[in-house]
Amino acid sequence: MNVIITGGAGFIGTHVVRLFVNKYPDYHIFNVDKLTYAGNLANLKDLENKPNYTFVKADVCDFDTILALMQREHIDGIIHLAAESHVDRSIKDPFTFARTNVMGTLSMLQAAKIYWESLPEKYEGKRFYHISTDEVYGALEMTHPDGIMPPFTTKASSGEHHLAYGDKFFTEDLKYMPHSPYSASKASSDHFVRAFHDTYGMPTIVTNCSNNYGPYQFPEKLIPLFINNIRHRRPLPVYGKGENVRDWLYVEDHARAIDLIFHKGNVADTYNIGGFNEWKNIDIIKVLIKTVDRLLGRAEGEDMDLITYVTDRAGHDLRYAIDSSKLQRELGWEPSLQFEEGIEKTVRWYLDNQEWMDNITSGEYEKYYESMYANR
Ligand code: NAD
Ligand code: DAU
Repeated sequence: MNVIITGGAGFIGTHVVRLFVNKYPDYHIFNVDKLTYAGNLANLKDLENKPNYTFVKADVCDFDTILALMQREHIDGIIHLAAESHVDRSIKDPFTFARTNVMGTLSMLQAAKIYWESLPEKYEGKRFYHISTDEVYGALEMTHPDGIMPPFTTKASSGEHHLAYGDKFFTEDLKYMPHSPYSASKASSDHFVRAFHDTYGMPTIVTNCSNNYGPYQFPEKLIPLFINNIRHRRPLPVYGKGENVRDWLYVEDHARAIDLIFHKGNVADTYNIGGFNEWKNIDIIKVLIKTVDRLLGRAEGEDMDLITYVTDRAGHDLRYAIDSSKLQRELGWEPSLQFEEGIEKTVRWYLDNQEWMDNITSGEYEKYYESMYANR
C-alpha cells in the first residue's frame, strides 16, 4: 500500500509513522505535514534514510498539492491526524482551528474522492481513516466525586488508583455535544468524513480517542509542560480546583489501535479508544511531582509547593471517560501498559531528552508561554 499519514511530525503522528514504517517495509509511507509550531522533524530522525518513508511538507488545506500527490504516488490509504490540537489555543484563535480541522479535512476528503473515483477499481481496497477525539461528545457528569470501582479494568487501569468518577461513559452511539472551538471543529470534521461515506460511498472510518501521554508531546499540554516546570522549579498552573477528570492512554497504545483499525476495522464504523483510566488533574500532578523529584534525586514530594491554582479554562469540560469495550470486543485491542509504568517511562524520557525540550521551549515558545499565563 501507499499510505499518506497527515500530521506525522506531531505528537501522535510521530508514533504512528514510526510504527508503520518499521512494521510494514512493503508499504510506502508519505508523512504530509505543514510543520506548524507543533510539528518537529527531529522526532523522526531515525527514519530519514528508510527507503519506504518520504516526508512531504504540505498544508492539508492545499487541495491541489494533495490531489497531485495522491495521483503521482498512487495513494491507497489515508490516516488523517493533522490538526490544530490545543484547546487553550482554540479559545484564543478559533479561525485557525476551523481552517485546518474543518477545511483541511474537507480538502483531504475531496482530493481522495476525485483520485479514487478516477480509478477503474474506484474505492476497492481504499481507506480514509480519520483520527478524532473524545471531546466531541462533550463533558460527562461527576456523579461520584470520591471515585468508585469502575465497571471495567484494562492493563492501563490495573494499578493502585483505578477509580471512575461517574456512572456514564462515552459510547459510540452518543450524540455530539462539543463545547470548545477545538472540539467543535473536530466534530465538524467527523461529520464531513461520515457524509463522504454516506453520499459518495467512500470507505471511511472514524475513531475517537481519550487523552494521550508519552514521548514527543508538545510542552503546552499538561503532562510535558508540568514535567518540564517541575524540573526547572517553575510554578505549575492548575486550572480551577484541579478536579477535572481526564482518561489517559499511553500514546503507543493509541498507535497500535490505529494500526489494527486501519487494517481490520469495519468501513463506515466508529471506534472509541481508551484504557478506562480516569484521573483527576490534581492527582496526576502529584504523581508527576513525586516521580520527577525521585528521578532527579530530590526528596520525593518536595516540589509540591509549585502547585499554583489559577483561573479556570473557559468552558472547561469536567470529565471525559471513554468506553472502549466495542474495540476490545470486536478487534481484540487492549492497552499494553499500566498507567504507573507509562508515567514513569514518560517522565524518564523527558528528563533524558532535555535537549529536545530545550530546542522547543526556546524562542517563540517562551513568548507563547508568557502570554498564555500572564493573566492567570
Ligand atoms: P499535535 O498538535 O502534536 O500535532 C499536529 C500535527 O499536525 C503537527 O505536526 C502539525 O505540524 C500538523 N499540522 C497542523 N496543521 C496542519 C496543516 N494545516 N497541514 C498539515 N499539517 C498540519 O497533535 P496530536 O496531539 O499529535 O494530535 C493528532 C491528532 O489526534 C489530532 O487530529 C487530534 O485532534 C487527535 N487526538 C489527539 C489526542 C491527544 O491527546 N493528543 C487525543 C485524541 C485525538
Ligand atoms: O481528550 C482528548 C484531548 O486531550 C485531545 O483531543 C486534545 O488534542 C488534547 O490536547 C487533550 O485535551 P485536554 O484539554 O484534555 O489536554 P491538556 O493537556 O491541555 O489538559 C489536560 C487537563 O489539564 C485539562 O483538564 C486542563 C488541565 N490543565 C492543562 C494545562 C495545559 C491545567 O490544569 N493546567 C495547564 O497548564
